Amino acid sequence: MGALIKSLSLNSSFELFALSTAIIVIIFLMIIYIIAFVQGREVSFWPLRIGSRPKNNSKDKSLHCFPNVSESSDLNRGKSTQEGSLFEGLKVNLLSNSRLPQIPTPSTYNPVYPNESYRLRVQGDAHRDLDVRAFKRSLELLRNKENIIALDIGCGSGYVTKDRFDSFENFKKIFGIDNSHSAINEALKIKDERYTFAVIDIESPSFKDSIFKLKGAESGVDFIFSSFTLHHLSDPISILKTLKEILKPTGVLVIRSPDDGSKICYPDNDIMEKIIDVSSNAKGISDRFHGRKAYFQLKSSGFNYIDSLYSITDTVGRSSEERLKIFDESFSYRSDYVKRQLESGDESARENYNWLIDALKYLRKRFYSDDLMYYMEVQYVLIAQR
Ligand SMILES: C[S@@+](CC[C@H](N)C(=O)[O-])C[C@H]1O[C@@H](n2cnc3c(N)ncnc32)[C@H](O)[C@@H]1O
Repeated sequence: MGALIKSLSLNSSFELFALSTAIIVIIFLMIIYIIAFVQGREVSFWPLRIGSRPKNNSKDKSLHCFPNVSESSDLNRGKSTQEGSLFEGLKVNLLSNSRLPQIPTPSTYNPVYPNESYRLRVQGDAHRDLDVRAFKRSLELLRNKENIIALDIGCGSGYVTKDRFDSFENFKKIFGIDNSHSAINEALKIKDERYTFAVIDIESPSFKDSIFKLKGAESGVDFIFSSFTLHHLSDPISILKTLKEILKPTGVLVIRSPDDGSKICYPDNDIMEKIIDVSSNAKGISDRFHGRKAYFQLKSSGFNYIDSLYSITDTVGRSSEERLKIFDESFSYRSDYVKRQLESGDESARENYNWLIDALKYLRKRFYSDDLMYYMEVQYVLIAQR
């Protein structure tokens, strides 16, 4: 150092001090840079800043394409513009997912289409235990009231109506309504004075008045049951709001809706999913993904208290006949909507129809004859109090 100073022939002690300081700063910065390099941190010399140590050594850049939500206080507060763009991106992906069909066209469902009443009975039997649990929970909410006035909307032939309400004595009067004349004609064969069946369209503007005109329901009803009907309606939220008005204060509503996203199987899950995709996008089919929307719709309609119950059906330990019933309930009818499209003269559905017929035959055989196949679906009901 002395020789260096001499060779630079520094004259004043100030020059000597400045040079020494510069050398010390350079050495200090070099040490920092070497340490940061070894630890994989980023260093900025002006303003002096050393980056935090990376959490892992992953070289996968895709892991870093979104901001780290847990570290971003703006994102956690939900006010950041970054959040907007992050979730907009996700929304685009969801809408283009083929498992979620476009907004369904108005349902052309016909409860007396060939084989449909058999399928509805199988379906009704399959959901009995879950409904009974939902009824028990509803009675708790109704404080085990006697003389309950009940309404079943979309009651069809009344098979499920009679089966469910007969299990409980608390119900004094049960009204079953449906917009299908043929279904109500079938229901009218039930000879039991507790039950009254009538043709009423839930979507008609006079729906509420028609209910209040029913003898015994003039001041509303205590309990409303809706089994596999709301997904046929084009505006379930407005109907739920009307149902809320029909319910007496503290009245209870039970709804059960399907959701095709709750089904899995192995092997052949891809075939099953394609059957669902093709059929759930057919013109005139109901909203086969309504189940997941029901909670949102009940909340949006202003129901105060909402509870949910679940059950799972799978093929493990079931006989061939039992497995076939599961197939019948969940898949057998899926070509009907496409068939009706064809019957209305829409030839564009021909290819899908032919494919569906073959695929359903194949899947049916799998359910019946292959005890290696695993199939599982979840059913759920929501119980809402006014
Ligand atoms: C899948 S079936 C369910 C029948 C019965 N609840 C059951 O669980 O077996 C749906 C029922 O809703 C009825 N429905 C559909 N839209 C309706 C409407 N706008 N007004 C009244 N009933 C309707 C249909 O006619 C059909 O009987």
